[in-house]
Amino acid sequence: MPKRLVLAAGLLSLSAFAQDSLPDGPEKHTVATVCSSCHELSRVTNSGNDRAGWLNVVSMMRNAGAPLQPDQVAPVADYLAAHFPPRPRPQAVILPGPATVDIHEWDVPTPGSRPHDPLATSDGALWYTGQMANVLGRRDPKTGVIREYKLPEHSGPHGLTADGQGNIWYTANFAGYIGELDPKTGAVKKYPMPDPAARDPHTLVFDPSGILWFTVQNADRLGRLDPKSGEIRLVELPTHSLPYGIAIDPVGIPFFVEFGSNKVGRIDPETMAVHDYTLPDPQSRPRRIAITDDGAVWYTDYAKGRLGRLDPKDGSVKEFASPGGPTSNPYGITAIGKVLWYSESNVTPNTLVRFDSVTGHFQSWKIPSGGGVVRNMMARGTGELALACSGVNKVALVEIR
Ligand code: HEC
Repeated sequence: MPKRLVLAAGLLSLSAFAQDSLPDGPEKHTVATVCSSCHELSRVTNSGNDRAGWLNVVSMMRNAGAPLQPDQVAPVADYLAAHFPPRPRPQAVILPGPATVDIHEWDVPTPGSRPHDPLATSDGALWYTGQMANVLGRRDPKTGVIREYKLPEHSGPHGLTADGQGNIWYTANFAGYIGELDPKTGAVKKYPMPDPAARDPHTLVFDPSGILWFTVQNADRLGRLDPKSGEIRLVELPTHSLPYGIAIDPVGIPFFVEFGSNKVGRIDPETMAVHDYTLPDPQSRPRRIAITDDGAVWYTDYAKGRLGRLDPKDGSVKEFASPGGPTSNPYGITAIGKVLWYSESNVTPNTLVRFDSVTGHFQSWKIPSGGGVVRNMMARGTGELALACSGVNKVALVEIR
């Protein structure tokens, strides 16, 4: 048989198999064929959403390139909502405490943008990466208008930060480069990875000397970009441990968490040698990281529902059960002084949690929109937090009073 026919026959049986695993309904055929072309159909059948949630997912997939007409979005979402309703999740646990917050949320302009990382800049603006819509968005603090900056190719903008001159830097997670946007002109300068294996640059952060540090998750690499020369250096980790969140300590040393293992790493800023700290529980999966002003390294243990504290001087670790319990999936985190702020991504609704590392006291709030998984969070000064609420297509500012 000619090669092409074999391939076509293979695709036919694959799609017949996909059809069998789906319940009957008007859009079964569309879902079986369209939704199994980029990833396994199990990605769909293992998730659960209400109608609004599925509308958002289907819009995201259209933005990612799924061949659906605009008038197919609602019927496909109806079919999915009927057969794959929300999964049972633990209820949010709300604890009282000394702080007061106001949570303001806004829809971003393009449906299915998947706001991934937020950025609160010193001019009062709120930025986000629209991962699926391939935009960077900026909310003007005076007018409230959100402007979208279209980015080159299908780049999957993911991590987000700013330099001292007001340029906005992002990781092009689907396209293997770091981008620098000039907000005045909308022009983007690309810094491609020097090694094609480093396909998915993930989270990025500037150190005080102006060097940009970043993780490359699935490629198990760490990177260093010098904006003056444009030079990028990469180091590869010895194991497949998925470097994820990254933060700089008070003296300028980058630390990162390894989401595929129970490790936290420290990078020597000169040699890029990596020193690993192993967390006591082999089941821990630290996902994001924040560093308090005393140099303690904090992580959200996504798998175990805990907040952890690593003392980098002696490697000792202390862990605290998150209010929502072992399946609460703590995720985006940041620090203000000695106070940690993070979100629990698997409770209904998602929460904003405050932990005072001096008193050991937890406090929590519901996120009004439900949160839709807050993948990252950042502080502006001491009185404000920026959040990206991926699955509800919103961005948020939290005023702390
Ligand atoms: C053009 C490629 C493409 C097609 C076609 C596609 N998807 Fe996806 N899908 C993606 C990508 C890329 C991601 C992963 C995003 C990530 O995790 O970074 C994804 C992730 C998902 C997720 C997980 C979402 C999350 O927020 O974690 C769901 C659910 C999903 N897809 C459902 C669907 C459905 C339903 C369809 C059919 C309507 C579909 N996909 C068709 C590319 C596609």
